[in-house]
Amino acid sequence: MTERKGIILAGGTGSRLHPITMGVSKQLLPVYDKPMIYYPLSVLMLAGIKEIAVITNPEYMQQFQRLLGDGSNWGLSLTYIEQPSPDGLAQAYLLAEDFLNGSASAMVLGDNVFYGHGFKSLLREASSQAVGGTVFGYRVSDPERYGVVSYDETGKARHIEEKPENPKSNYAVTGLYFLDNKASERARYIEPSARGELEITSLLSAYLEEDQLNVQRMGRGYAWLDTGTFGSLLDAGNFVRTLQARQGLQVGCPEEIAFENGWITRDDLLAAGKNAEKNDYGKYLIRLAEMVAR
Ligand code: TTP
Repeated sequence: MTERKGIILAGGTGSRLHPITMGVSKQLLPVYDKPMIYYPLSVLMLAGIKEIAVITNPEYMQQFQRLLGDGSNWGLSLTYIEQPSPDGLAQAYLLAEDFLNGSASAMVLGDNVFYGHGFKSLLREASSQAVGGTVFGYRVSDPERYGVVSYDETGKARHIEEKPENPKSNYAVTGLYFLDNKASERARYIEPSARGELEITSLLSAYLEEDQLNVQRMGRGYAWLDTGTFGSLLDAGNFVRTLQARQGLQVGCPEEIAFENGWITRDDLLAAGKNAEKNDYGKYLIRLAEMVAR
């Protein structure tokens, strides 16, 4: 099997954050001390994925490129793909078909923040599954806003419904999708929904109907945060700030993960730290580098 590749879907309109997002992409806004996209990027890096496509609106692509470059600073290879208009999450698999070039993928939404103990092994396990797909069901209080999973009596996932009026469970599908190398081909057969989008739920349902989808529960010990509204954006920032202040450890720090993965050297880490040495982010990287013997 060729290596699994990553996709960060960072387009969309961000209309719920107007006027903030009238001049800047949502995924470039800060979640406390980092641009939002660092968090989903960190998820793919934790999963061990180095080759990643960032899908953006045409008008914001340059800003993402300025921020993330070609990824080599973090041992990554980044590709940028335009999504001319926000026609749905499943469209990503059509836009990224050439990039994927027959590889399996992990796609993460550019505005999703995940955190929890054992996350890396959860990701690595999902990533090691060559055939079919894995997504995560997470309990939320407002399932009608999401794709909702219904389970049969044995606890097996049976259906996924997009934003149902009467949700059959409290389990929402999170914005992280591990799919095999058939995803782009399958996406070609999806019809746009009533709201005119190629729905990720339709793609996942196609996998589920053939018993090819593992809907893994992500337990209550995990945080899955949304950042799409004024309140949830501030809450996510406060969550990151609280954890970081309490533990003295960073949430969603690409340099740290790259170093842990052996993708960058101690000197690279030190150089990244010097770049921000006046603040706690830079000091954290310098401290990490200093803890490692030369
Ligand atoms: P949403 O939160 O559903 O949409 P949005 O970001 O456009 O915001 P709003 O509802 O306020 O208008 O999108 C979830 C994520 O997926 C977000 O990171 C944007 C991204 N996205 C795309 O990149 N392309 C798309 O076609 C859609 C629908 C979303």
